[in-house]
Formats: sequence, C-alpha cells, structure tokens
Amino acid sequence: MAIPTPQKILLDTDPGGDDCFALLWLLSLVRQERAALVAVTAAAGNVSAELTFRAACQVLELVGMTDIPVGLGVPVPEAEITDAAHIHGADGIGNLSQTLPVSARSPEQAPAADDLLIATLTAAPGEITVIAIGPLNNLAAAETKQPGILRLAREIVVMGGAFAVPGNVTPQAEFNIAFNPVAACTVFASGANLVILPLDITHQIICTSAQMARLTAPQPDCALTRFVTALADFLTQTSRRYRETGGDRGFLVHDAVTIAYCFYPEVLRFRRARVQVETRGELTAGQTLIDRRHRPKAAANAWVAHEVDAAQLFACFVEDLRSLIASPMVKNPATDG
Ligand code: BDR
Ligand code: CA
Repeated sequence: MAIPTPQKILLDTDPGGDDCFALLWLLSLVRQERAALVAVTAAAGNVSAELTFRAACQVLELVGMTDIPVGLGVPVPEAEITDAAHIHGADGIGNLSQTLPVSARSPEQAPAADDLLIATLTAAPGEITVIAIGPLNNLAAAETKQPGILRLAREIVVMGGAFAVPGNVTPQAEFNIAFNPVAACTVFASGANLVILPLDITHQIICTSAQMARLTAPQPDCALTRFVTALADFLTQTSRRYRETGGDRGFLVHDAVTIAYCFYPEVLRFRRARVQVETRGELTAGQTLIDRRHRPKAAANAWVAHEVDAAQLFACFVEDLRSLIASPMVKNPATDG
C-alpha cells in the first residue's frame, strides 16, 4: 500500500503544558512522515507571547527539529481574563524551561505570527491544515490584515469553546475563546473550513499516571522522558488544586484532541452547526453558542465535535509518544553536550 503524503500543518499554540503534549504528538507524526510541520506560530494566552515563543522553540530544540519556522504572537488587547500561569507554570511549561536546551532563536528576530501565517497560507493555497490550540489572536490578526486569508487553509482545527458543559474560566466560557472573544468571532465569521473541538469532549481526556508510565517505560532516563514526566507531575498537581478533572487523578490534555482529529478521526463524532461567540455580555463574554431549535437557520459555519472515544485516543497517543521518545534524534542535554 502506498504511504500517504504527509499532511501539511501549521500549529498555532500557546505552550502551555497540554500544548506541549500536542506538539510532541505532532512531532512524532512528523518523524513517522505522516505530518509535515511547516510552521509554528506562538500565541499569547496561557502566558505572554514572548514566553510561549520561547517554550515552543525549546521543545523543538529538545527533539532536534530546529529548522521549523516559529512566529512571535501578535500583541493582544488587555485581556478580560488573566493568563493560565496558575495551571501551566510561570513559564507556561511547568517551570521546567531551565531544564530544557537553550534555543538560539530570539523573539526580537522572529517573524510576526500573523505575517508567517499569511506567507505560509499564500504559498500553498488549499493545502495547509491550521491547528489552533491557543486564543485566536494570531489567526484573527492575519484575517484582519489580509481578509480572506483563512479561507486558503485546507481546514482550521480549533480547540475551544464549551456548548453543553460549563466553561473552565467562567461558568459559561472556555479559556481559548474567553481570552479574546473578538478574535474568535473574526475567525468564526471568516468563511474558513472550521472544525471545533470544545471542552465538551476535552474534559474527558484525562491523562493518568498509568498512561504516563506506559508512555515512558521503554526509555525511562532520556531527556524527553524526564521532561514529559516532570510536566505531567506539575499539571497533575495544578489540575487537582483547580478541580479540573472531576476528582480523578491526572491532567487534561485538551489540545492533543486536535492531533487525534487530524490523524485518527475515527475517535470523534461531529455535528454541523452555526457557532457564534458572545463578545459583550457582562457575565457571558466568551460563551460559544449553537441554536438547537428545530427552525430554519442561517448557514452552518463549522463541524463541532460532541463525542470522543478517550480510550482509543490514548492508545494512539501513547504509541506515538513512545515512538518519539525512542527516536535517536531526541537531544539529551546531559549527554549530547
Ligand atoms: C485550553 O486552555 C488552555 O489553558 C489550554 O492550553 C487549552 O488550549 C483549554 O481550555
Ligand atoms: Ca493551549
């Protein structure tokens, strides 16, 4: 059987602990020649744009993939909500940046994320899947700078929103949308081919210590194992403190669901809908809404996931991360100098 052409992906991310797991899963698929990561755009969100840029660069450095362009997130309007450093650590990555290899890239010399998005999508219209796992600041800035640009994406896969479940930053709103509701509105109104993976399904994706043990067992003492183990421990503690997992011990890997969608779509079920965002409500800003009445509606703008098979998702996640950890190109700062 012929090996399929690798899917071309641009990852927009705000690392973020769960972002790191999503990025590492994607990098494993790059290693397996199932994905081509054409660019990473860091976004302000979990922590500042500068810190998410540094975190993304350091994770790429750790796995020896330093030739992937990384953009610096656009400045954001004063956020209505605070960042998520209380969940992800002051550096966004469990306060572990000191343990990772240093990256030679600097935010001052990086391309702006919106420009990198525009250049990447323009160079390959209809070919690139944009995976967006942070607030939608960069995507909205690109659309505002060059209207119609997001329609050049093959698909835009967004982790965000909460429909039939409570939000995680307010009773109504999920973090990625609540951080910048106006940006989300711009992206949802862009006419792009949208897939939305909301909290409704991601709150079921609890990574436990048993899964982490399976994932790290073959190479217990390499640098990547040490990083993911320490990050998981950190996230497990903050998840318990902020009651993220309904009492189960573990942490939510929300953002990894986007990778499942792109490479293992059989683990998800969807409905077609028109998704809108509340931008003004004093109590409800950032709420995502679908009209469920049996009445004729305006045209749908997205596929929205409503069911996930968490066990199957984790089976694929663990296998792929094991294969990345076993990969000889992963740098080990302790021995590689
Ligand atoms: C989203 O918020 C962030 O804190 C996570 O990284 C994820 O993208 C979940 O609501
Ligand atoms: Ca994120």
